[in-house]
Order: sequence, then C-alpha cells, then structure tokens
Amino acid sequence: MESSWLETRWARPFYLAFVFCLALGLLQAIKLYLRRQRLLRDLRPFPAPPTHWFYGHQKLLQDGKMEKLEELVEKYPCAFPCWVGPFQAFFYIYDPDYAKTFLSRTDPKSKYPCKVLLPCLGKGLVSLDGPKWFQHRCLLTPGYSVNILKSYVEVMAHSVNMMLGKWEKICGAQDTIVEVFEHINLMALDILMKCAFSRETNCQINSHCDLYVKSTFEASKIIFYRLYSFLRHHNILFNFSPEGHRLQETSQMLHQHTEKAIQDRKKALEEEKRQDNTQKRKHQDFLDVVLSVQAENRDSFSDTDLRSEVNTFLLAGQDTMPGGISWLLYHLALNPEHQERCREEIRSILGDGSSITWDQLDEMSYTTMCIKESLRLAPPVPSISRELSKPITFPDGLSLPAGITVVLSIWGLHHNPAIWEKPKVFDPLRFSQENSDQRHSHSFLPFSAGSRNCVGQHFAMAELKVAIALILLRFKVTPDPTRPLVFLSQVILKPKNGVHLHLKKLS
Ligand code: HEM
Repeated sequence: MESSWLETRWARPFYLAFVFCLALGLLQAIKLYLRRQRLLRDLRPFPAPPTHWFYGHQKLLQDGKMEKLEELVEKYPCAFPCWVGPFQAFFYIYDPDYAKTFLSRTDPKSKYPCKVLLPCLGKGLVSLDGPKWFQHRCLLTPGYSVNILKSYVEVMAHSVNMMLGKWEKICGAQDTIVEVFEHINLMALDILMKCAFSRETNCQINSHCDLYVKSTFEASKIIFYRLYSFLRHHNILFNFSPEGHRLQETSQMLHQHTEKAIQDRKKALEEEKRQDNTQKRKHQDFLDVVLSVQAENRDSFSDTDLRSEVNTFLLAGQDTMPGGISWLLYHLALNPEHQERCREEIRSILGDGSSITWDQLDEMSYTTMCIKESLRLAPPVPSISRELSKPITFPDGLSLPAGITVVLSIWGLHHNPAIWEKPKVFDPLRFSQENSDQRHSHSFLPFSAGSRNCVGQHFAMAELKVAIALILLRFKVTPDPTRPLVFLSQVILKPKNGVHLHLKKLS
C-alpha cells in the first residue's frame, strides 16, 4: 500500500527527533554512570554501611531517626559515605579533627538547601558565598554585637512574660499539661519582630489575625516540606504544585511587608532629621543597624541586599530558637535535680524576676552549663553541609577530591562516644571549666565554628537565658510520660508531635 503524503512528510522529523532524544538519554545515562564510578572510586578508602544498589542509604536516615545515626557513629568512628540513590553521595563527618579541618576552609554551601531557601530569604548571610558573603558579614557583624544585644534583653523579657501570663491563665491553680512548642514558637517570633523592626504584632495573643505572622509560619512549613519531598526538588515540578504557588504568594507577601517596613523607617528617619528630633527609640533595632550600613555603603549595599538581610535575621532566628528553648525545658523537666539547682541560682541573682539585665545573664553559670548540655543533646541545627571547592586531606591522611558534598553532623559529633562518655545522659558538669578545658576545641559545635559560625549566637544565648530564667521562676515543669519528645531531623530539628509538659504554677 502506498504511504500517504502526511506520513512521508512527518516520518523524517519524527525519526530525527526520536534519534535525538535517544542520543540525549544515552548521553545522560553515560554521564550518570561515570559519575557513579567516580564517586565509588573517590569514596572507596572510607568504610560504609551496607548499601542498596538503587536506594543507597536513603532508607537508613530518611525518616530522621537519630538512633540510626548514633549507631553508625559508633560503628564508623570518624566518617562514612552516605548514598542517596545510585548517583548521589554525601560524606558524613562527626570527628572533632575532621570537623576542624573542614571548618577552617571556605567551601561554598551546598546548592540544594540554599536553592530552596532563596525565594523566601533572598541572598542574605545564610545563602551567600564568596566575596559578597564576606562583605555582608563584615558590615553586619556590629548588628549582632553585645552593645546592641544589651538593649534587647528587656524586649525579650517582655515577650517571655506575656507567654507566662498565658500559661498562668491556662493552668489556673491546677497542674496542667500544655503543648509548649507552639507557645514558644510565637514568643520567639514576637521577640524577633521587635528586635528586627520594633514591630508590635500581638502575635502571641492572636496569631491568626496577623497576615505577616501567618505567612512566616506557612512559608517555613512549605520550605521544610519541599526539602524532604523528592518529587518537589525540581524547580519546575515544585513551582507548578499547589505548595509552590502558595510559597510564591507567601514569599511575595513577606517581601512586600519587609519592603514597607524599610520604606516607612526611611521616611521616619528623614522626618526626624528634618525636624532635628533627637528623641530616640528605646533600642536600636536590626533595621536601624542595616540602614546605617547602607547609608555608609550606598554603592555596594542595595535595597535588595537590605531586604534579604532583614528576612535572613528573622528566619534564621525563628527556625532555631523555639527548638533551643523547648528542648532545654524538656531536659530540665526530665532532670528535676538540675531544674531545682537552676531555679535556686536564678532566684539568688534575679529575686522575683521583676527586672533582668545583660550583666545578670553573665552570672548564671550553672544555668549556662544546663543550656550547653541541652544544645549538645539536641542541637537545633543538627547538620551543616558544603560542596568541596578543592581537595581536602583529613588529619589521618585520607583525602577527598573537589566536588564532593561534605555534611558535618553536629548531632553525630555531640553523640560521639569517642568524645562524650555516656553520650545520652544529661550531665551539665561536662561544661564545667575544668572539663571543658580538657576537651577538643571542636567537640561541641551547636553554633558551628570558623568564619561562617552563627553570627546570632550571643543573641541566641541571651534569649535562652532570659526565657529559662523567667519560666523557672514562675513554673515547675515535669514530663508527660505518655508523650515523650520525638525529634524530626530536618534542616532544623523539629518536634514530631509537639512538646508536652506538666506545668505547675509556683506560688
Ligand atoms: C539556638 C539557636 C541557634 C542555633 C543552634 C544556631 C546555629 C547556627 C549554625 C550551626 C549556623 C551555621 C550554618 C552553616 O554553616 O550552614 C548558623 C548560622 C547563622 N545563624 Fe544561627 N543559630 C541560632 C540562632 C540564631 C539567631 C537567633 C540568629 C539571628 C537573630 C541567627 C542567625 C544566623 C545567621 C545570619 C547565620 C549565617 C552566618 C553566616 O553564614 O555568615 N542564628 N547558626
């Protein structure tokens, strides 16, 4: 039978397209095969747990169970390669000498988490790399300095007291079980809003009314959902999903809000200047600091930089602080003798807690040891990662080439039995001066170390101390044995089912 005009006309292009796609597919397959062979070769010197040819070790660590990681840390003392599927591998390290070598370099952050955070945060300290990061870090460090932080203590105490007022209402005269994480989450956001741009949101009383507060929570949830959903990793797939749409909307809303706060403040400052109004706000907030940085560096610090840094301040603080405070409270609930010792110390320094100053925070030595022990047992940032820009050689002589993604497991380091005797036991005395002096400088890294350590760590320690001091003066906390705390390890440690505690009002 004779073929039709249409068939002959289209057969050739179809054939060519088919061959083209086949060639592309083949090329991709060869690339993946070579990539796998290269990774296998590079990682061969390091012993690894048994692996599935397709899933790799994904099933071992996927559900965020920290016990599995602890078993691996015990079995493979310094590091192990972790395969995620057949073509991707990360190199996990949790040995202090390995950590020291790794953190003394300036490798860029791994691409994936940064890509996911970008729509919301913009390019701020957390996601920048290279000279631009260095420039921002130098310019913004004064915004996190002790002088600025001193004035935040009062702001922090005010927000904590507001939360305690709520708890008193919930408890009345009775000992009541409360899911504290959600309360602490709102309280931490309240503090950040006031410290970032002196914004009174009333979010602790009515979190649903404030669109900005709602968007902050929603954006944070979608970002973490995306990070752990393999099918949402690709930008195109994610952007067309309902969550992708929602994230675009919430990010836009957050950017508009920050932009408005910036513009309003700029106008207010101009007005103050025009009227020579020397009356100042009670405290200089983060926005004041960033605006003065911009005024002095007009050419190199744009409005977009400014907005990204304010958003970064908010999100970096918001995702870590609620966990830090909640885990501390939980550990003190499980260990009543340490809770009582902290309370006694705090009473002797603060009396009834009607006022609290920066200098008083410095005096809380036992409480500080308990905070550190809690950050060791449950580091709010359980791991950090970098993509090697050049080969690395560890102190034992083993090397890795450029291009490998190295994950420093802070959780693994803090639970490494080679450093910590009985790593699961809550023992604040590990952090006495004498015991700390004997340990490796890189065995305790809740805030990381080196040039990219946490720029907000003094802010974080101050908030942890203010929160725990004021809570313990007004409440006794005990655990709810029916609902133990279960961690969900994401980029930030989260509680799987909340943090449930018995609260007893102290008379
Ligand atoms: C208990 C609370 C906190 C913990 C455990 C924590 C931990 C960390 C860690 C481990 C890093 C290094 C991340 C990496 O290298 O990939 C980091 C970076 C950072 N943190 Fe924190 N953080 C806390 C609170 C805060 C707060 C309250 C702020 C701000 C108000 C903040 C702002 C930042 C910023 C801006 C960076 C990026 C620094 C840079 O790369 O130059 N953090 N944090």
